[in-house]
Amino acid sequence: MIQRLRRDRVFGRKLVIAMVGLPARGKSYIAQKLARYLGWLGHPTRVFNVGGYRRAQVGARQPASFFDPANEEGSAARDRAAREALDDTCAFLAGAGAVGIYDATNTTRARRANIAARTAALGYDLVFVESICDDPALIDRNVRATKLGSPDYVGVDEDEAIGDFRSRIELYARAYEPVGEGETEDALSFIKLIDLGRDVRLHRITGHLPGRIVYYLLNSHASHDDRRPIYLTRHGQSVYNLRERIGGDAPLTVRGEAYARALAEHFGRAPPNGAPVVWTSSLTRSIETARPLPWSSVVWRALDEIDAGICDGMTYDEIRRSMPDEYSARAADKFGYRYPRGESYVDVIERLEPVILELERQRSPVVVVAHNAVIRVLYGYFMDRAPEVCPSLDVPLHTLIELQPSVAGATERRHPLGPMLEQDRYG
Ligand code: SIN
Repeated sequence: MIQRLRRDRVFGRKLVIAMVGLPARGKSYIAQKLARYLGWLGHPTRVFNVGGYRRAQVGARQPASFFDPANEEGSAARDRAAREALDDTCAFLAGAGAVGIYDATNTTRARRANIAARTAALGYDLVFVESICDDPALIDRNVRATKLGSPDYVGVDEDEAIGDFRSRIELYARAYEPVGEGETEDALSFIKLIDLGRDVRLHRITGHLPGRIVYYLLNSHASHDDRRPIYLTRHGQSVYNLRERIGGDAPLTVRGEAYARALAEHFGRAPPNGAPVVWTSSLTRSIETARPLPWSSVVWRALDEIDAGICDGMTYDEIRRSMPDEYSARAADKFGYRYPRGESYVDVIERLEPVILELERQRSPVVVVAHNAVIRVLYGYFMDRAPEVCPSLDVPLHTLIELQPSVAGATERRHPLGPMLEQDRYG
């Protein structure tokens, strides 16, 4: 119910995002990041990668000459892969999909005109996202970060793979027509990312979702070198945890204080590469947990725990006995349920969006000391979990979660620290 209201409110039409650019310009990386972000916001999003269709149709290992625009057989095969991926993008949107990301080079006007005609006929909005990069160092880094591990070059010697891929880029460059250069493309909506987001140019971008996409692209790293860790932790055990009460603003227990010290000791033993930014919520238990850390912290109200409204300060048992309807409604839909005069998980996601953008913008390591629902939602974003599963993600007390974002998605390590009891899993 909540989801339907959200979609209706912010999302009148379905959207195709069509990537544009030469190979090794970070298109797939940007596409994957955008999909993760939009999915997390509650817009079912999927990436359709034409390279994947090409590999399925004609096999992964093709010589660079396959990509020569003068190679009729190669061009026909590539057109077939592009057509099938676009068919699937449209089929996804005809069903439950809200945003289809068409991840291909789309470097010619003819290819883009076809996408525009197809999407217009189906009533979908269309935004092109073009990645332009002429910096040889950035291109080289992208080739090494992604192409050497690509299925196209399994078992191929590194120098040979790099040489072959450079030839492929040169062949694409011969037929490359940047978006919007020429009157025929004036009507298109597009976003140009120059040098992986150092400069962003917009043309005919209107509407809520395209606006959000621009904002995200302005803040997030389009490059593959986003290597700083992000540490997530709940506060140490609080007096309310001990009494099984939700909400409130209780201080830490003795065990909670021991966790705070253990957290600081952990960073003493395994310091991150560079001083991290530390963020806490505005609640006492979060601030107290960060206090022993050797770095100053910034308080964000947006990191406060889910607002339990009229249930704040109660135990679940008290809610079950005095408000059985509320208790059942929450049990039936923990994601969509909103506490009376409080919040739902959907509300928490919306309020954490600025936090995500700031996390994306930061170049140094970040330590976030917050609360169960908040950490679940942040974790869900980085680990690409559907928003609906966030309420059931396992985020125990007294455990530091170390996330390492990478091209292939974030990896995680969990560090149980200090005094840990079985009930900490549920506090
Ligand atoms: C590929 O086959 O790897 C890319 C296809 C394209 O979009 O040009």
